[in-house]
Amino acid sequence: MEFLRKENVRTHSVKKMKVAVTGAGGYIGRHVVEALLELGHEVTAVDFVTEGIDSRAQIADVELFSGASNLYQQMGEPDCVIHMAWKDGFVHNSNAHMDYLSAHYLFIRNLVDAGCKNISVMGTMHEIGFYEGKIDENTPCNPLSQYGIAKNALRQAVLNYTKDKDVNIFWLRAYYILGDDKKNNSIFAKILAAVEEGKKEFPFTTGKNQYDFISVDELAAQIAKASTQTKYTGIINVCSGKPVSLGDRVEQFIRENNLDITLKYGVFPERPYDSKIIYGDNEVIEKIMKL
Ligand SMILES: NC(=O)c1ccc[n+]([C@@H]2O[C@H](COP(=O)([O-])OP(=O)(O)OC[C@H]3O[C@@H](n4cnc5c(N)ncnc54)[C@H](O)[C@@H]3O)[C@@H](O)[C@H]2O)c1
Repeated sequence: MEFLRKENVRTHSVKKMKVAVTGAGGYIGRHVVEALLELGHEVTAVDFVTEGIDSRAQIADVELFSGASNLYQQMGEPDCVIHMAWKDGFVHNSNAHMDYLSAHYLFIRNLVDAGCKNISVMGTMHEIGFYEGKIDENTPCNPLSQYGIAKNALRQAVLNYTKDKDVNIFWLRAYYILGDDKKNNSIFAKILAAVEEGKKEFPFTTGKNQYDFISVDELAAQIAKASTQTKYTGIINVCSGKPVSLGDRVEQFIRENNLDITLKYGVFPERPYDSKIIYGDNEVIEKIMKL
């Protein structure tokens, strides 16, 4: 199905918004809270884990998956909700993805029905599945992991439910993220852990696959800006727009951090559902960052 981006004619950037962030205590969430505060917004943070959330944010003790129809009121009726909470995002075939799918959908549907006007939800390149090249909002999605399948279904359900409703939906599709690496569970975190354990070699794939890498701070700035404008809605890539091989990016990380470790290429095979080259079209996010 071709997805038509809405470029709203009646546009305005709201200067200061009340923004609620779910998953605010997570790897990306903490940076998004800071980015929103830097833009002058008022932030309400929701998470099981509240340690490390910027103290300027207000913590709201809200049970996201309670199914309560007044969740929007419980969150203080924000102008915008950025829904980042997700369990096991780093475990691609965890049962949690499908187990919680309906709860995510019900949460968003309740927000829409309660009158929330701007809702951002985090998407992922894993919605796409095996695909080679640049991804835009019309790229077909054939996800190959439970994580990708659940995110893809959530996007379809949310966009379908809201297509005739007076609400801006921002599906923010993220790619490969680095920075603040001890908290991100990625290859970069694993390399840091290996160095701490005194290892000199790191077993690796061929490193040839090319991905779209972005620093968590830049990503957070994109998420904050995209969620608090109304000119561009729908699927929005939050990304660098530049493909770089995993091997090159990890070598750069090792150099930048002066790590005494060498990559041992070819020990692990690439996962069958990893794309050889996959990166986001950053045309829209570039425009948003200039608003
Ligand atoms: N990290 C990545 O590489 C990446 C890439 C693309 C998309 N994303 C998406 O970005 C979002 C944030 O990812 P992250 O890397 O910060 O993950 P994370 O696991 O560090 O953070 C997720 C947070 O959500 C919270 N949470 C989960 N279920 C909750 C619930 N029911 N109620 C309240 N809090 C709950 C967790 O406590 C956690 O702090 C997720 O939706 C993820 O799918 C992440």
